[in-house]
Amino acid sequence: MAGKRKRKGGAAAEYRRIHPRNKYSDNPPDFGLLSSLYPTFQPYVFYSHDGRPKIDWTDFNATRELTRVLLQHDHGLNWWIPDGQLCPTVPNRSNYIHWIEDLLASDIIPASNADGDVKKGFDVGTGANCIYPLLGASVLGWKFVGSDITDVAIEWANRNVESNPHIADLIEIRRVATEDKTFHIEELQNTRETTNEGVKKGYSGPPILLGVVKDGESFDFCMCNPPFFETMDEAGLNPKTSCGGTPDEMVCSGGELAFITRIIEDSVKLKHTFRWYTSMVGRKLNLNILVSELWNLGATVVKTTEFVQGRTSRWGLAWSFLPPSRKITTSSVVQENNLSFMLQGLQRQHSAFHVLQSVESYLATSGACCKLDSVAFNVDITASKDQIDATLKTQRENTTEDASYHHELSTLNSSTDSLRFRISVFQQIPGTLLVKGTLLDKASSISGLFHPIFQKLEEVLKNKFHTGRALADGSSSKHVR
Ligand SMILES: C[S@@+](CC[C@H](N)C(=O)[O-])C[C@H]1O[C@@H](n2cnc3c(N)ncnc32)[C@H](O)[C@@H]1O
Repeated sequence: MAGKRKRKGGAAAEYRRIHPRNKYSDNPPDFGLLSSLYPTFQPYVFYSHDGRPKIDWTDFNATRELTRVLLQHDHGLNWWIPDGQLCPTVPNRSNYIHWIEDLLASDIIPASNADGDVKKGFDVGTGANCIYPLLGASVLGWKFVGSDITDVAIEWANRNVESNPHIADLIEIRRVATEDKTFHIEELQNTRETTNEGVKKGYSGPPILLGVVKDGESFDFCMCNPPFFETMDEAGLNPKTSCGGTPDEMVCSGGELAFITRIIEDSVKLKHTFRWYTSMVGRKLNLNILVSELWNLGATVVKTTEFVQGRTSRWGLAWSFLPPSRKITTSSVVQENNLSFMLQGLQRQHSAFHVLQSVESYLATSGACCKLDSVAFNVDITASKDQIDATLKTQRENTTEDASYHHELSTLNSSTDSLRFRISVFQQIPGTLLVKGTLLDKASSISGLFHPIFQKLEEVLKNKFHTGRALADGSSSKHVR
C-alpha cells in the first residue's frame, strides 16, 4: 500500500487513532464474538498463544469474510465481491466517511438553502465493493452517485445496492463512458498543461468528473479512493495483508498524482457544482504537491487529514471554490464536544502551524501530554484535572466566568480520569484561521473542563496573535456540529 509509514503500538493503539465517531473507535471488531455468531467466519479465526482470536490477513477469503460479517453485523448490510476484487476494511473506510461528515457539518463552506436535509455525494471509482455509498447511505442517510469504468465493478456495485433494498433508492451506479468517440477529453482538459507542473506523466484514462456529472446536477461532496499506483509491481507492496485488487482497480497511467490532478482540473471547471471536492492520497509527497497546486488554482479552502490504515498512513485532501463563511454560526443544537472560534487578521508570518505550536507549548507548560500532527494540522491533548486546574487557576483573570468555572470544578469527582481533546486548525482564507476543539472522550468524569480550557485557549491565542480587533462580530467559542 502507499504511504508506508510504520507505526508502533499494535492493533489497540491503531483503533484508538480512528475517528471518534467511527463505530470501531472504542470497540474494535471482536473476532471471537463474530465467529460464534457467524459460522461462515469461524473457519478463518484462530487463537494465538495469548488466547486472542486472530485471522490470517494474508488470506483474501478471510479478509473478505470479515468485511462481509462486519457489514452485516454492524450495519445490517448484505454484501459480496468476486474473488480478487479490492476488499475494503470497514473501520478504515468509515474514517473517510466521518471526515466528510465533519467537513459538511463544520460550516466552513455553508450549505446552500436548496440543499435540503439529505446530503448528496459522488463516489469516483466506487468499485465492485461499492463501500462508500453503502456506508454513507446506511450510517448517515446520504444519497450517492457511484461511478466506475469496469464491467465487473458496475455489475457488482449494482448487485450490492440491490441486495439492500432499504437504501437502494439512495444510490445510483453510473457507468463512465470509456469509448465514447464524441467525448473529446483533450478539449475538456485544456487547462492541463498550465496546471500540472508537478505531474511527470499525465492522466490519459476515461473521464472522471467532467463529462460524467450531468448538466444541472449538484453535490455536497465528491470522494475518491483512487488507483494509487503506476504499475502492479508498485501495488503489490504489502505482503502482510491480502485485500485483493485487480490492475483496473489499483493502477492508472501517472498513478495517483495524475488521477487526482485530473480531479482538480475537473473541479476548476465544475467549480460550484460541488460544495467540497475530496480525495484520498497515498503519498505525503503527492499531498504536498497537490495542496500547493490547489492554492495556485484559486481554491478558497484546502484541508488535509491523516488516516491511519493498519501500519500505514494515507491522507485526506479536501478543497472548495465556494466562499468560506466569515463567521461560524451557532448550531441550533448545542453540542459540548465541538467548539470553535476564528482567528482573523493574522499577519503573514503567522501560519496555522505557528498557532498549533502555541497551543502545544501553552498546554505542555502544565505537564499535559500534547501530540502535534503537522500533516493533519491538529494537536491531541491529554491532561489530568490537576493540570487543567493549574493552567486555568494560575493564568486566569478574576472574572465572573471564574465563578462558573470554580463551580464546575467543585462539582467534579476527584478521579484519576483525564481530559482528552483535539485542537485542529483550518485555513479559511489568507489571514483567517478556524480553530476547532473536539472532545475525544465524552465519558471522562472531567469532560466539563473542556469548555473552560477551550475558552482559555481562545483568549491566549487571540492575545498572542493580536487578532482581537478583527472580531467585529464578537464571535467566540461557538458550539458547532
Ligand atoms: C482503488 S479502487 C477503489 C474502489 C472502492 N472505492 C474502494 O475504496 O475500495 C479505484 C476504482 O476506480 C475505478 N476507476 C478508475 N478510473 C476511473 C474513472 N475514470 N472513473 C471512475 N472510476 C474509475 C476503478 O475501476 C476502481 O474500481
